[in-house]
Amino acid sequence: MSAQGTATLSGITILGSTGSIGASTLDVIARHPDRFTVTALTARSSVDVLAEQCRQFHPQYAVMTDPDAATRLQQLLKTVAPDVQVLAGTDGLIEVAGMPEADLVMAAIVGAAGLLPALEAARKGKRVLLANKEALVMSGALFMQAVRDNDAVLLPIDSEHNAIFQCLPDDYKAGVTPRGVRQILLTASGGPFRTLALDKLENVTPEQACDHPNWKMGRKISVDSATMMNKGLELIEAGWLFDLPIGKIKVVLHPQSLVHSLVEYNDGSMLAQMGNPDMRVPISHALGWPDRIESGAEGLDLMAAGKLQFEAPDHERYPCLGLAMHAWQLGGTAPAILNAANEVAVESFLGREISFPSIARTIEHTLAQCAVHEMDSLETILDDDAMARTAATEFIHSSGKVAAR
Ligand SMILES: NC(=O)c1ccc[n+]([C@@H]2O[C@H](COP(=O)([O-])OP(=O)(O)OC[C@H]3O[C@@H](n4cnc5c(N)ncnc54)[C@H](OP(=O)(O)O)[C@@H]3O)[C@@H](O)[C@H]2O)c1
Repeated sequence: MSAQGTATLSGITILGSTGSIGASTLDVIARHPDRFTVTALTARSSVDVLAEQCRQFHPQYAVMTDPDAATRLQQLLKTVAPDVQVLAGTDGLIEVAGMPEADLVMAAIVGAAGLLPALEAARKGKRVLLANKEALVMSGALFMQAVRDNDAVLLPIDSEHNAIFQCLPDDYKAGVTPRGVRQILLTASGGPFRTLALDKLENVTPEQACDHPNWKMGRKISVDSATMMNKGLELIEAGWLFDLPIGKIKVVLHPQSLVHSLVEYNDGSMLAQMGNPDMRVPISHALGWPDRIESGAEGLDLMAAGKLQFEAPDHERYPCLGLAMHAWQLGGTAPAILNAANEVAVESFLGREISFPSIARTIEHTLAQCAVHEMDSLETILDDDAMARTAATEFIHSSGKVAAR
């Protein structure tokens, strides 16, 4: 970190740099050339975007998980950034997540694909900026153990968890209950279908589901926001991050997405973090922490913001929230099974193979079908993830795909 004239650049690996969080991270980094240097950028198959990012940010390494895409990237970089070393596959991701040149690792790959490199960053004692909530949902106990054993610093990027982190006392790791926390309140926008008649949900399209009222995000998390599986995953994420049981975490609908979450203390005080819905705020908070650095985000105009609403979530409208709570209570590998079934179902919905309500049906079936095991090793988690993907895929095929919308 830069300190009074003797600037030392911190190296950062951005896993998933071509996505929504990846692009916002690069936007913040570009504002601080005196603090950060880019060690590695990664993507799955977005060759042109990654090539442009390499031209602009000159990382030492670029990784494409798709090997053909890696070959194409190598060709493109010959003219625009010939010094960048191109790696391929999951091995490449793991390598750049753990390499000594990277002080910070932004874990912004979507879904289970981000687990291995995020875990590697924790095992190598990095400052891990965690956007990839699925990694923690799948492997919570192992992931947190890796953080503790290797003195990694785990900072949440999800705006809700980042808000909670900002509202907790500095020594919260000694236990939030002893530090006087009564409960935490996770806010949720309710997504684009919060007021749609329930009987219309069967016919909503992927485009409508991805049209989030407040946030511009990747397609998978946008659908998760519409079903509120996102909040379910976040509930589990919060449990691991802040070592809290489910009874101490409450979900509150807040359609304006201006209060990003709250901590309630024993004396009745509630601390909230507020701001415009702009992911550069939590990203810059975690990049600069404990310093506050420029993010590029506008401050919130309270006068223009008007009324703020808070409501209880409707479980009939959002069955995925209840399914996530159930998986969290089951424990062990149940959250990994839930997550895998959700990934399969969301992909099928985005591919117009199943209806929107069938996402929850697929997850419910998969959770009922798959045996839950102790979360005793990474192998067990990955086995149960694979088992759940098979069960979810079979359910989708056996129950008949719906007509495309
Ligand atoms: N977007 C938000 O505002 C937001 C807020 C809070 C938390 N998050 C979390 O942050 C994570 C990323 O979300 P996002 O919205 O930024 O997603 P996104 O826009 O879809 O971007 C995903 C990134 O991951 C890469 N990727 C996808 N599948 C991969 C695979 N199998 N192997 C390796 N890389 C892969 C993509 O590469 P390609 O471009 O090549 O496909 C892209 O760089 C998610 O876990 C999400 O829940 C997002």
